[in-house]
Amino acid sequence: MPPSTSSAGPAPGDIDTVLPADQAPDLDAAAHSSRLAQQRILASPKDADAWRTLAATYAEQAPTWREWSSAQHGYDWPVRAGLARARPAPWALELCCGTGEATAALAAAVPVVVATDLHAGMLAHCDDLPGVRWRTADVRALPYADHTVPLIVALNGVFHPPEVQRVIAPGGQVLWCTAFGPGTPLYVAPRQLHQRLGTDWGIACGRAGHGQWTLLTAPASRPSSRRSH
Ligand SMILES: C[S@@+](CC[C@H](N)C(=O)[O-])C[C@H]1O[C@@H](n2cnc3c(N)ncnc32)[C@H](O)[C@@H]1O
Repeated sequence: MPPSTSSAGPAPGDIDTVLPADQAPDLDAAAHSSRLAQQRILASPKDADAWRTLAATYAEQAPTWREWSSAQHGYDWPVRAGLARARPAPWALELCCGTGEATAALAAAVPVVVATDLHAGMLAHCDDLPGVRWRTADVRALPYADHTVPLIVALNGVFHPPEVQRVIAPGGQVLWCTAFGPGTPLYVAPRQLHQRLGTDWGIACGRAGHGQWTLLTAPASRPSSRRSH
């Protein structure tokens, strides 16, 4: 199959097999300060210096993030491919939404979306979208009660398992995507996502465009003892 050159992206049935016409950018992901900070957070979730590094990195990039991301062909394809496998959900919580790179695809699939990011400076660049509310929120302290969120979605997000485990509803799903797979600074491998959330979760994963999606399904019943910190 020839590579797609359409700016609208491939048809839904093609999304796993068509590569964007261009190369993925070289972001020096393995040595990127965001990758190192993400790894430190997974090793030590209260590593304040690692959290500060991430916050500062993206505060600095907020004014130009939209311009850069919109030049990346196929950037949201992993989100669209993963959503095609997700169960219908009445609403979704998007984490680390940036300037809304995944949000339009999510809003097309789910009736109500709460799109969140740490930085108001990122949200300031988001478009109004039907069914979408934009809010500041820190992945360390999500403004939701325990086990109440049916679907969590992130594209190139900061992975902080304790809060995901706390808010996800029984049988809820987490769609974790990267635009460039291991070439993404904040990449966490599907196996590690699964191990961190719980090997009793269901998992499916795949590739789309230059990136990857991982769809994780929480167990249908979640005794409070499952929660980890
Ligand atoms: C790599 S960008 C991804 C943005 C967008 N989803 C995309 O794919 O282009 C990471 C995002 O995580 C946000 N972020 C960093 N630390 C965060 C935190 N503690 N809580 C919530 N969001 C955070 C940043 O502001 C930034 O928008």
